[in-house]
Amino acid sequence: MPKAKVLVTKRVYPEAVELLSQSCDVDYVGTDDGLTSAELIARARGCRAVMSQLTDKLGADVIGQLHGVEILANVAVGFDNIDVKAASERGILVTNTPDVLTETTADFAFALLMAAGRRIVEAHHFVHSGEWRRWLIDLLVGQDIYGKTLGIFGMGRIGQAVARRARGFSMPVLYCDAQPAPADVAVELQLERVSKEELLRRSDYVSLHVPLMAETRHFIGAAELRMMKRTAILINTARGPVVDEPALVEALQNGTIAYAGLDVFENEPAVHPGLLELKNVVLAPHIASASVDTRRRMSTMAAENVIAAMKGDRPPNLVNPRVWEVRKS
Ligand code: DGY
Repeated sequence: MPKAKVLVTKRVYPEAVELLSQSCDVDYVGTDDGLTSAELIARARGCRAVMSQLTDKLGADVIGQLHGVEILANVAVGFDNIDVKAASERGILVTNTPDVLTETTADFAFALLMAAGRRIVEAHHFVHSGEWRRWLIDLLVGQDIYGKTLGIFGMGRIGQAVARRARGFSMPVLYCDAQPAPADVAVELQLERVSKEELLRRSDYVSLHVPLMAETRHFIGAAELRMMKRTAILINTARGPVVDEPALVEALQNGTIAYAGLDVFENEPAVHPGLLELKNVVLAPHIASASVDTRRRMSTMAAENVIAAMKGDRPPNLVNPRVWEVRKS
């Protein structure tokens, strides 16, 4: 029986390739550029699996041409780069890498929150550039973190992990989610569920943890930014298009809100030029899950999903389980 051919679209941690190679014939694109859609379609010919990254745009047009592919294993918890409906219609399994990055991402969201609140990046540049001449009573004064109110949109795994950190800073936590948090979690973290508007009006810090879907595109726009306190700080480690970037730039320029900490952008890796001119932002290149351990584990988890599917087993991290059920019925 020939080994199943697997396309790995971009460089991953080598452990993942080694793991795959034990039972599969791996076509490893070990570069960082990624494949164009046409290249991906051509290289996936004869493959039963594609291990993709969030930079691979797997829309219906591409998926429709992945003949013989049985699984798309994304090396990310988010899968908005994949048209899951189109994949499901073609009986293709889709998997992601949940849980492993929850704490790492929450750490980073909190790091951005603290960096923005206490103006750490501005302070670094101030000292580094030799501008620091004397101590002043109001030099680089920022916002308190301890005791301030944190509003979280999306109380899933990462939202809960951020709320847990906030408890350590005695921050009251408000949240807004279509689903209520599990009762024990709500009690443990003393969560208060509120409407979108109430969260925006009452929070000192607002952190986004919603997936990108049609309903969450521009979830935070000009109207929402106007509802926030003028001292409020917005943190986005979810997906760039959840925030209307031009509206955010305007709000930061006009003082509608005070500051933002952003790890994700609407058109990555492009960043709105207005953001690059502002001092009241902390910007990072989509690295919230980027610890060595987590990124390595994300790579091997995606490989494990592929290996399971190739053996005819249920991949552990299916996002479209119905496809599996239909396949097994
Ligand atoms: C994800 O996994 O969706 C992150 O955005 C990258 O780790």
